[in-house]
Amino acid sequence: MHQRRKVGILGATGMVGQRFIQLLENHPWFEITWLAASDRSSGKLYGEAAKWKLDTPLPERIARMTVSPAVPQGAPKIIFAALDADIAREMEPAFAAAGCAVVSNSSAFRMHPDVPLVIPEVNADHLPLIEEQSWRKQSGGYIVTNPNCCAIGLVLALKPIQERFGIEALFVSTMQAVSGAGYPGVASLDILGNVVPFIKNEEEKLQEETLKLLGSWNGRAVEPLDAKLSAHCNRVAVEDGHMECVSIKLRAKASREELLEAWRDFTPLHGQALPSAPAQPVEFVTAEDRPQPRLDRMRGNGMASTVGRLRPCTLLDWKFTVLSHNTIRGAAGAAILNAEILEKLGKLEPQPAVEANDPVAALA
Ligand SMILES: NC(=O)c1ccc[n+]([C@@H]2O[C@H](COP(=O)([O-])OP(=O)(O)OC[C@H]3O[C@@H](n4cnc5c(N)ncnc54)[C@H](OP(=O)(O)O)[C@@H]3O)[C@@H](O)[C@H]2O)c1
Repeated sequence: MHQRRKVGILGATGMVGQRFIQLLENHPWFEITWLAASDRSSGKLYGEAAKWKLDTPLPERIARMTVSPAVPQGAPKIIFAALDADIAREMEPAFAAAGCAVVSNSSAFRMHPDVPLVIPEVNADHLPLIEEQSWRKQSGGYIVTNPNCCAIGLVLALKPIQERFGIEALFVSTMQAVSGAGYPGVASLDILGNVVPFIKNEEEKLQEETLKLLGSWNGRAVEPLDAKLSAHCNRVAVEDGHMECVSIKLRAKASREELLEAWRDFTPLHGQALPSAPAQPVEFVTAEDRPQPRLDRMRGNGMASTVGRLRPCTLLDWKFTVLSHNTIRGAAGAAILNAEILEKLGKLEPQPAVEANDPVAALA
């Protein structure tokens, strides 16, 4: 039985911050004891500061908590961060330097060579990168990130294929929900009855992060996967759930049955009893018109990647459609699963730094 650890949320009033609150409210391992947001919210009761947008009620206990200033003093040592990248770039290192485990959603440090970008089912072996971080060496604190909301669903579907057949080239075109832009996000007059074929920096993130996630750990660094990837990213008038149409060229030939078997057999966290891990991370749907955001985004409690429409591709080898919930599997749920695997590895509670000039402590 785990003792519940005290955790805080940075950016607690935003779309992802709200998901953290929803998903952590009855979490068996973690208990929210601290909430922080911008100066606009700090000092207010959470129930007044946040515009609650989720379809479950705001928990009473949380509504009555006071939003703290976003500084490490007084914060717990485990921080879930849901800040915009520009703010995260300054704030997350301050928390890591103060000895916090910062489990981040933002893109600010995802591609930093010393920061692990992790999906536990895919590349938990990259987590030792935290030991390379200067914060870790000085205060015990560190930053761990989860990927962009499109990269997570896609990479879950790609990992079993990469393991068995290798990936040479990939083309992906996304249809991304409006909640992916935060709140208030895209203006209603821009998106209602419309599609916007541009999301700033999204294509670059999807391309770079996918190759880092599928890359290999050489004991000191991550070497990105050697594959060609081209992404098109579009914003569509859907509330939650990102869809992606994928065409893929493999290094070794695979039949339809072999691909289905690779997805079916993919249960890398089986037996680890992580509370947020879906039993089947990649679910294949056979109906010809699925997956669909409204019908399939909550598979695996919003943590599964749903794949469908597998068929031969006339340009590359195979094509299929992927769907995942962008604020659960693509954001808050992903960070919580990262914290759970760190806990399992005994790395979540940051260790105090060993004094360099204390040989006895260094040997302990
Ligand atoms: N939405 C998604 O599907 C998704 C998926 C994956 C990753 N992400 C990433 O997660 C992060 C948060 O996204 P979001 O959609 O939740 O954004 P959001 O709805 O705009 O929320 C932003 C949060 O940051 C806080 N904040 C703003 N300025 C701050 C400051 N100077 N100091 C401290 N806190 C500050 C806001 O507090 P106030 O309410 O006080 O302004 C709010 O709590 C972003 O980096 C985003 O790229 C989002």
